[in-house]
Order: sequence, then structure tokens, then C-alpha cells
Amino acid sequence: MESEADIFYRELPKVELHAHLNGSVSFQTIDKLLRRKPHLNIEHSMTAIDRGQRRTLDECFQVFKVIHQLVESEEDILMVATDVIKEFAADGVKYLELRSTPREEKNTGLTKNRYVETVLKSIQQCKEEEVDIDVRFLVSIDRRNGPQVAMETVKLAEDFMLSSDGLVVGLDLSGDPMVGHGRDLIPALQRAKNCGLKMSLHLSEVPSQLEESDLLLNLPPDRIGHGTFLHPEVGGSASLVDKVVKNNIPLELCLTSNLKGQTVPCYSKHHFKYWYQLGHPSVICTDDKGVFSTDLSQEYQLAASTFGLSREAVWKLSQQAIDYSFAPDAMKQQLRQKWVDLQPQVFK
Ligand code: IMP
Ligand code: ZN
Repeated sequence: MESEADIFYRELPKVELHAHLNGSVSFQTIDKLLRRKPHLNIEHSMTAIDRGQRRTLDECFQVFKVIHQLVESEEDILMVATDVIKEFAADGVKYLELRSTPREEKNTGLTKNRYVETVLKSIQQCKEEEVDIDVRFLVSIDRRNGPQVAMETVKLAEDFMLSSDGLVVGLDLSGDPMVGHGRDLIPALQRAKNCGLKMSLHLSEVPSQLEESDLLLNLPPDRIGHGTFLHPEVGGSASLVDKVVKNNIPLELCLTSNLKGQTVPCYSKHHFKYWYQLGHPSVICTDDKGVFSTDLSQEYQLAASTFGLSREAVWKLSQQAIDYSFAPDAMKQQLRQKWVDLQPQVFK
């Protein structure tokens, strides 16, 4: 049964800015995919990390490979994206920035273009069904695939930014942080910036990436994913922090993801504390709600209980996230109004 606190966090209107599509697939949707593809012999334990379990980051990336085997046709993508959007809406998320790496699949004839078109179709269908959520899309570059694919991905994102009626707003750089070097991706990222794509980069997700982080911060990105090892207390540097602060770059912080992926030792040592105490723009996000068995309400609740945040402080966090989104100004205004309208009900 839901406690009074659970209800507060679910009713709290929320903004989700860091959600990878295939990492966000729920247990229920995985079930439907497993029934479609019994021949793959995949089990639930291979697609999610349960409560209390932890994996190395490397093992987490193996999980994505398994999910990709299950999501390989337009039909799969349409179902997955639609379910994910509706689940975020049911969790009280009013604005969602979904991100995903366009894939081509020889088996099913899926192309990268059709991949993106299908995600956009699910966003449009949810809008037509009046699901209470606004969704925008970021095209992901998987750093594992190198500079040439990165450049192609930027061109794809650019085309869709111009033709998707505002649904594609930017670019994400993600993928296994141990593979490749950000230096090689600078030309692609620079091009993205020049053509007006917003940019969120996974940065300093693992230790010892000071040089790469410094180079990428010079772009500068519009938002940072994780930034776990930027600050000096964990081996980062004052000059990196300085760049983030001077450019006022918001951080997307994902508590459970970092705990389960073992890049932070425990919730209380999560870098949320460092940046929040600094008064720096920080947004609570899920990263991969399916893989890490969580949701955004739970992440807010965890942040509040771990760091002693009052309900008013939690409200402010969720409200400020609107400012850091890549939504157009008119939509930000509508969202701010929604928060004003919902406040009496949430604090009743
Ligand atoms: P997709 O892009 O929708 O297929 O979502 C899964 C992909 O997101 C993975 O294959 C990674 O490239 C990326 N991803 C998900 N979580 C993380 C993370 O914590 N760090 C870096 N990349 C991630
Ligand atoms: Zn991520």
C-alpha cells in the first residue's frame, strides 16, 4: 500500500531530462517482448538489476546488449516507446526528454531513419491520445562507434531537428565511458552546436577522465549527464568545477543508476550533495528506470530522505528542472503554470 509520503512524490509534478529509451523498458514491457521472442531464451534477470543488487558498469552495458536483441523492429520500438512514455506520465512526469541511439538491424530491415521516425510516431500518438505529458527527443551518439558514426548521427539529428515539428531538440553523448576518447568526437559535437542542436554530454562518469572532461567542457555542453568525478573530493579538479559553474551548466543526477553501476559507494556519498550545497543547477533523473528498477518519484524520495530535503525544497527542485530543459520558451511557460495549478493539490 502507498504511504502518504509515496503519494506526495507520485503527485509531485516532475520533469525527466535523462532517460535512455532502451534502459527505461519496464518489467511488463519486457514480458511482452519475451513472449514475442521465446527463441532468444532471455530471462528477466538478464534485463534488469533488482533491488539490493549491484553490477560493474561493464556488466550494466551487457544488459543493454540483451535488451537491444529484444527491441529490433519498428513494431518493437513503437510498443517500447509508447509504454515508456505512458509509464512516465503515470508516475507524474509532465515533461520528458527521451534519448535513444538510432540503430539499424539487418534482420528486420530497420534503418536509423525509421528508428527515429518510429520513436517520433509514438510521441505523436501519445499526444493524440491526450496522455498528460509533453515529450521531446534527443538523438544519442554511442561513443563506442567512433567519430565517423558520430558525425553521421549529428547529420541525422540535424535533419530531424528541421523536419520533426520541434520534437527533436538535441543530441546526447553516451555509451560505455571506458571506450574511445571524447577528443575524437569534438568535430561532430562542434557541428551539432553550430547548427543549433542542444547538447547533453555524459561526462566524468568514471574516474581519471580529467583531460577528456576539460576538452568537452570547452564546447561547452548545455547539460552534463552524471559528472560523477568532476569535483576535487573524488579526484576531479577545481578548474573543472570552475568551468561548470562559470558556464552555469546544469547536471543530470541519477542516484540509483550510479549506486547500482557502482560509480558511487552509497547514496549518502552521491555527488548530488556537493552540487546541491554549491547551489548549482541539478536535476534528479532516472537514467534507465527499467534496468535499474526505479522510477522518478522514487529517486526524488531517495534524494529527500538521504540529504534531508524538505517537501518545499523537493518542490523547488522539480520546478527548477523546467528551466534546464530543452523545451521551447512557450512550453516552459505552460509547464510553470501547470506547477502553479497543481501546488495546492500536492500540498493538501
Ligand atoms: P538506447 O540508446 O535507447 O538504446 O539506450 C541504451 C543505451 O544508452 C546504451 O546502449 C548506452 O549507449 C546508453 N546508456 C544508458 N545508460 C548509460 C549510462 O549510464 N552511461 C552511458 N551510457 C548509457
Ligand atoms: Zn545516461
